[in-house]
Amino acid sequence: MTPFDAELTTALNKRREQQRYRQRRTSQSPQDANVVVDGSTYLAFASNDYLGLANHPQVVSALQQAAEDSGVGSGASHLVHGHTHHHHSLEQALARFTGRERALLFSTGYMANMGVISALAGRGDHVYQDRLNHASLLDAGIVSRAKMIRYRHNDIEQLESLLAKESKDSKESKDSKAGHTKRKLVVVDGVFSMDGDIAPLQELSALCQRYHAQLMVDDAHGFGVLGKHGGGCVEHFNLSSEEVPILVGTLGKAFGTFGAFVAGSEALIETLIQFARPYIYTTALPPAIAAATQASLALLQNDFPRRESLHQLIAYFRQGAASLGLPIMDSLTAIQPIVLGDDNTVLKAAHFLRDNGVLVGAIRPPTVPEGTGRLRITLNANHCEADIDRLLRLLAEACACS
Ligand SMILES: Cc1ncc(COP(=O)(O)O)c(C=O)c1O
Repeated sequence: MTPFDAELTTALNKRREQQRYRQRRTSQSPQDANVVVDGSTYLAFASNDYLGLANHPQVVSALQQAAEDSGVGSGASHLVHGHTHHHHSLEQALARFTGRERALLFSTGYMANMGVISALAGRGDHVYQDRLNHASLLDAGIVSRAKMIRYRHNDIEQLESLLAKESKDSKESKDSKAGHTKRKLVVVDGVFSMDGDIAPLQELSALCQRYHAQLMVDDAHGFGVLGKHGGGCVEHFNLSSEEVPILVGTLGKAFGTFGAFVAGSEALIETLIQFARPYIYTTALPPAIAAATQASLALLQNDFPRRESLHQLIAYFRQGAASLGLPIMDSLTAIQPIVLGDDNTVLKAAHFLRDNGVLVGAIRPPTVPEGTGRLRITLNANHCEADIDRLLRLLAEACACS
């Protein structure tokens, strides 16, 4: 072993001792309520494919047809030669769907968040973030070199006092890197990815307007799930583009495909095209993925029974879990975490479920704060009540043993 590998191995061993060593398992089936992983069949509550579109025949067929007419690879970045009619038409459809002037595709949600925050904020600017924001938003805040200020989860009062303090201190000084008036960006998950609760966007938007800050919402887990047409948090709260000027969605969750988008004004999207480095310096998504997403967008908007079944399952799970005394959280979305505390307890419970044929996410720090390890249970429109009954029975047993 080289000295470098020995050094890496020491850190890996430490990770193992902390019970935080992560391992990949290999799926051998498409996303669905029942999946095959490492040769065994499981009932799965671990995917973000909330509407069951990742293997929907219309989505698969749109992908196949587009691959036949456009091939697989896009060949270049959007700005060089990779922007196809499939990408363009999806961007227009996403703009209509979100009620924004324009939308822009990114290769992943992580890159969209990096791109937006670092294009809009820099030295001298302020980025305010909820403590429980997704890692991609927090990382983007660091990379942007703006001053990053984190406020307690959903604590509007604390955010207000931080904004008020900054306004007093700065008095409109023009010292940001771009020479514009110091910019304030308030950044938040629409639906918190590990907790499933919804950010108080109406209050956040009012606060942003009062303190001349821009509100950025990453609604990765709200699109498809919330709103009559699956328009996510902004549809749920009926928020306009003035109230939420920067809206991010990811396509790998309820859309069932891959990639991400940012929706907003003409000026915002042109700014991202010119200045967002993760947009500029990367190969465009495969065009067939864009075509498949257009098929999934139509289903996500118009297949009302599908969304309705998901919401019935969420209510059924919550009712059953509450009657068993399981520690559910305040979540009306497809993410239904059971917080168990220390890492060992979480791992034991997840292993017990797996040994009994049920897959759930075992989420531990640093993904969640210390002492709040949890089973991240995600529901899917393809589950049925009998699936939930089986899950609940096993959860009750797992929690009784822990
Ligand atoms: C809130 C949130 N934003 C962004 C992302 C990143 O999206 P992607 O997986 O497309 O990179 C995720 C999850 O992965 C997420 O949960």
